[in-house]
Amino acid sequence: MKVASERDIEALRAIGQVVARTLAEMAAAIEPGITTLELDKIGAAALRKAKARSAPRCVYSFPGDTCISVNEEAAHGIPGERVLEAGDVINIDVSAEMDGYFGDTGATFLVPPEDDLKRRLLETAEQALARAMQAAVAGARLNLIGHAIEITAGNAGFTTLRDLGSHGVGRSLHEEPRFIANYHDPLDTRRLHDGQVITIEPFISTGSSGCRTASDGWTLISGADNLSAQFEHTMVIRDGEPLIMTLP
Ligand code: CO
Ligand code: CO
Repeated sequence: MKVASERDIEALRAIGQVVARTLAEMAAAIEPGITTLELDKIGAAALRKAKARSAPRCVYSFPGDTCISVNEEAAHGIPGERVLEAGDVINIDVSAEMDGYFGDTGATFLVPPEDDLKRRLLETAEQALARAMQAAVAGARLNLIGHAIEITAGNAGFTTLRDLGSHGVGRSLHEEPRFIANYHDPLDTRRLHDGQVITIEPFISTGSSGCRTASDGWTLISGADNLSAQFEHTMVIRDGEPLIMTLP
């Protein structure tokens, strides 16, 4: 969507804050021994309390209120009986709707003890998001987002998952521009516009460049020996730096 009024921004910020708080509540409960279903229930309760509706559940009939992906899982992991263990890399993605507006955020966490590789993976993904947001200026080419992400990953010795991307958001969970690549696509001539609402969500991997869908039909697996990290914000494009809706 394109923001047309102050009311649009207020509504986007309201749902942005709800998903950010929900993510923070779930993150605070991460510890060895907890199941991903138990984490999801914490998220479901936070959304319910805010009178927001889980976007994956409502829009795609996803069997969970949030997406929780552990280790070899890159995205769209279904909350279930999987028990978190020491050393796990866990991604939580929260998206929801309130008053007809959508917010979408995600972050990746380590279950202690952490090691150098995992710590660097998370730092690189966060840095890729920050650099991509710096490049996301009204009038600029959309592919500068992927360029910033790919360069940041490569400099750290990591790869990007090329089949996952950022996207337009606002009045629905996924809207135009539908796929914003996590890599530099020189054929993509689209430009960013003032007031445009998008997510940026780099997926950085220790070595994989794509995913396959698990037998559950949802979970995207980046490979048995690969770890990946994603961080995501919903933002409004402006002349300068974007206005982030999902900062806690
Ligand atoms: Co998301
Ligand atoms: Co998203």
